Amino acid sequence: MIDIHSHILPGFDDGAVDLSESLNMARAAVNEGIHTIVATPHHQNGYYFNPKNDIEYHILELNNKLQEANIPLTVLPGQEIRINLNIINEILSGIIAPINNTRYLFIELPSWEVPIFTEQVIYEIQLNGYIPIIVHPERNRKLAENPSILYNLVNKGALTQITASSLTGNFGKPIQKFAHQLIEHHLTHFIASDAHNITNRGFHMQKAYNIIKKTYGTEIYYMYLENSKLLIDGQYVIRNEPQKILKKKRIRRLF
Ligand SMILES: [Fe+2]
Repeated sequence: MIDIHSHILPGFDDGAVDLSESLNMARAAVNEGIHTIVATPHHQNGYYFNPKNDIEYHILELNNKLQEANIPLTVLPGQEIRINLNIINEILSGIIAPINNTRYLFIELPSWEVPIFTEQVIYEIQLNGYIPIIVHPERNRKLAENPSILYNLVNKGALTQITASSLTGNFGKPIQKFAHQLIEHHLTHFIASDAHNITNRGFHMQKAYNIIKKTYGTEIYYMYLENSKLLIDGQYVIRNEPQKILKKKRIRRLF
């Protein structure tokens, strides 16, 4: 299994604090059946500035440590970029780290809102030849209240990734329900852990995939597994025609 979103790189953000925690996370990942993981440190979220070269250097180091410790896990480079108006400049100056050096970028929205420039930035990213992936839309309050905003962005070419622990209910019932609605309406394309540690923000990948298989059948289950592979290989991923979430189904009180 491939996990495309994690905070396993030590000392980069609010994920693993040091190497020993990274190695513990790596062991937990392997126990879940994960063999490849993308490290996606926060970038430009008001607290962290993590440029591409820094991330890549420390990923080499972490992969060496994993080998020394006999942990069968490969770490690939990535970055979780908070949406901002400077992304294109940062792409041009080499600060942005696409997922495994493909054309895919992880874009994070703030938890409470969808900035007014979101559609413009998502458009410009694509205009520059990159594919934006909006991470954990199910945890955004504004999108839960107005899912048509997300439908619009997906319809215009954005992809999305939901968090395994949203599906398992670790973020609460309303978020779990919204995550399921996103799957049902073809508004999400990837499942990932967004693991920060092995305690309160762990992997939950196996459980989430089991829920998907049981609820939506093997075809959808394999689509999600396959999409993560296609993503790290820089290929086109599988997209089903997005559907609008009808008004009566909306979750009014999410948080
Ligand atoms: Fe994250």
